[in-house]
Amino acid sequence: MTEEWIKVAAPATISNLGPGFDVFGMALKDPYDIVYARKNDGGVKIVSIEGPGAEELPVDSMRNSAAIAAEEVLKRCEADFGMDIKIIKGIRPCSGIGSSGASAAGGAYAAHILTGKQLSDTELVLCAAHAEEVTSGGLHADNVAPSLLGGFTVIRSYMPLEVVRIEPPSNLGVVVAMPDVIVSTKEARKVLPSEITVKDLIFHVGNASCLVYAMVTKDLDLLGRSVKDAVFEPARNHLIPHLNEAKNAALSHGAKASFLGGSGPCVISFFDSNQVSGESIATAVRSIFIENGIDCQSWITMAGSGCQEI
Ligand code: HSE
Repeated sequence: MTEEWIKVAAPATISNLGPGFDVFGMALKDPYDIVYARKNDGGVKIVSIEGPGAEELPVDSMRNSAAIAAEEVLKRCEADFGMDIKIIKGIRPCSGIGSSGASAAGGAYAAHILTGKQLSDTELVLCAAHAEEVTSGGLHADNVAPSLLGGFTVIRSYMPLEVVRIEPPSNLGVVVAMPDVIVSTKEARKVLPSEITVKDLIFHVGNASCLVYAMVTKDLDLLGRSVKDAVFEPARNHLIPHLNEAKNAALSHGAKASFLGGSGPCVISFFDSNQVSGESIATAVRSIFIENGIDCQSWITMAGSGCQEI
């Protein structure tokens, strides 16, 4: 079987956004992975992986998030063919901006195109979330949902899965600063508390509710005030050196909020792109890490769409 390759762009995502641990996620315009796929006679096979951190990623299709997600789509669609996959990583693994989630979403989306798109959005998210469960040690869809659907997403329920998509404000600028620190999601989930207090629950419900309202009403000041996490980010703080200094640097250069992206180490800062360019925020955050001997890369970006065939 000789088939044409199709090409899919699968965006990086921010998850948690303060109070919405495993619930909130947002797709970014940049960076993104590229997933190539074509039909084969049987079985899902990773042909090649290139780009930052590619050498760390498994080509074994039982352990690769794109392959696991694609396999799940092919199984649900009862496809009578397999799939070859080539991945070009735009997002380093262990970054905190959904590297494995982007590949899972891209793999699922590409498989869905090849099968003639028989699944609902929710089923597609479930296929990609299954891959996240295998590779990250916990079922969470807060990266794969926005990577597939785009915009800002809220997981109302996991059992059964229900995802709500909201269009973020167009002037919501995002600085992603990625220090040269490796944090694996699997390890970063092990340091989390298994229970939270009623006081913290009240704090999270209040902030999470207002964050959603702010996304809908495009109120960046309320959004900035609502990006608060009393439980999960504090538990992970010790995994990312100089996190508090980096966040403070962003805030003192005009950011509306600054927080840990997903399980880290990326530091995410929100700003109003009608007011500032984001350049000084990116420089300020990078400087904190660089002055402390840690290299740091950054992107100035915004909310983006979900996976697309390009
Ligand atoms: N919500 C997940 C976590 C995202 O924080 O562990 C991982 O990228």
